[in-house]
Amino acid sequence: MLFNPKPKMKREELYDREEELSLIENSIEKGLPLIVLLGIRRLGKSSLLNVTLNELPYRSIKIDARKVYSEFGSVPKEAIGKLILQGYLRGSTKERAKETLKSLKGVRIGGLGIELSVDKSVSLHEVLERIDSIGERFIIAIDEAQYLRFSNSRYPELIAWAMDELQNVSFILTGSEVGLLEDFLGIHNPESALFGRAHREIRLKRFERRQSIDFLRRGFEEIGLNVPEDDIEETVGELDGIVGWLTLYGYNRYLGMSHREALNRLKEDAKRLILSEFSALKRLSPRYELAMRAVANGKHRWKEIKETVELLEGKRIDDKNFSNVLNNLVRYGYLEKTIEGYFIPDPLVEHAFR
Ligand SMILES: Nc1ncnc2c1ncn2[C@@H]1O[C@H](COP(=O)(O)OP(=O)(O)OP(=O)(O)O)[C@@H](O)[C@H]1O
Ligand SMILES: [Mg+2]
Repeated sequence: MLFNPKPKMKREELYDREEELSLIENSIEKGLPLIVLLGIRRLGKSSLLNVTLNELPYRSIKIDARKVYSEFGSVPKEAIGKLILQGYLRGSTKERAKETLKSLKGVRIGGLGIELSVDKSVSLHEVLERIDSIGERFIIAIDEAQYLRFSNSRYPELIAWAMDELQNVSFILTGSEVGLLEDFLGIHNPESALFGRAHREIRLKRFERRQSIDFLRRGFEEIGLNVPEDDIEETVGELDGIVGWLTLYGYNRYLGMSHREALNRLKEDAKRLILSEFSALKRLSPRYELAMRAVANGKHRWKEIKETVELLEGKRIDDKNFSNVLNNLVRYGYLEKTIEGYFIPDPLVEHAFR
């Protein structure tokens, strides 16, 4: 159902995104080795990725880099190597698995089933070369790929090498911390291994007003709930075209809440979630939160945001230092910079900091 709050897996559950889906599929069909899918949180990157991988007639693996990071405190190559091989061998017989893994450094196959163990001596170059040599298309999708930066391994160099040397391996990377992922990959940085590489970049946008309204209408139709137009209009007015929030509102209604209850509950839950996501940045410096509060309360120009934060801190802040704070908030996707100044792209994030 459209209001299922988990990331979607099948095309029937995915509202629209037809254009993005066919862009990714065409790029893969044409053998493009690198696709980058960008967009702030809760716009449906993971859902789009799942559906794409489900529809393409190739073997693939989806790696959640954020999850690997939270499990290991870094993104070690042996964890990535294991996930890649597990994905590649999914559904294989033990004979085929053994054949594929034969004499791969650092990789062993367990006694029963095809339980793999991969140790530090693994070479990801060797793993990818082996997969490539089998001659079937294989897609490695890495969700929240900006987390790959927490590693001793230099993943952008590995990807650049694979793009040059391999025929059958493609990468799809997603990132919600758009600026961080761009900096990490360095596609626009002459010093970086991936500089200037042919790739396809897709920026996911929020739904337009008419799409958001249509999304809610269809979702309610699907669950057989008669919801007044006014409720729908107000919801879209408050949540904008952020499909993750629209979905949760719909799900609350599905659970039996009234319009008001559903909206209020969503705002409370969202606030808690957003502030907990933000806590990592806040730990770096409490100044990040003060800057967000200034913007949420209507300050948008660099100078007025700075003055507000100075007032809150009770001391002067160095210009360069303050620019870093705002630039980082942009890189993490909490702020957007336009010619009119700095804005919060998500109304519930704005609400959480007000
Ligand atoms: N096109 C869509 N149609 C219907 N529901 C969607 C669509 N895209 C996303 N959703 C729903 O919105 C929510 C957020 O989606 P998803 O997790 O895929 O987004 P995301 O961009 O990966 O978010 P995050 O940055 O938090 O990882 C989920 O509840 C998902 O089911
Ligand atoms: Mg996601």
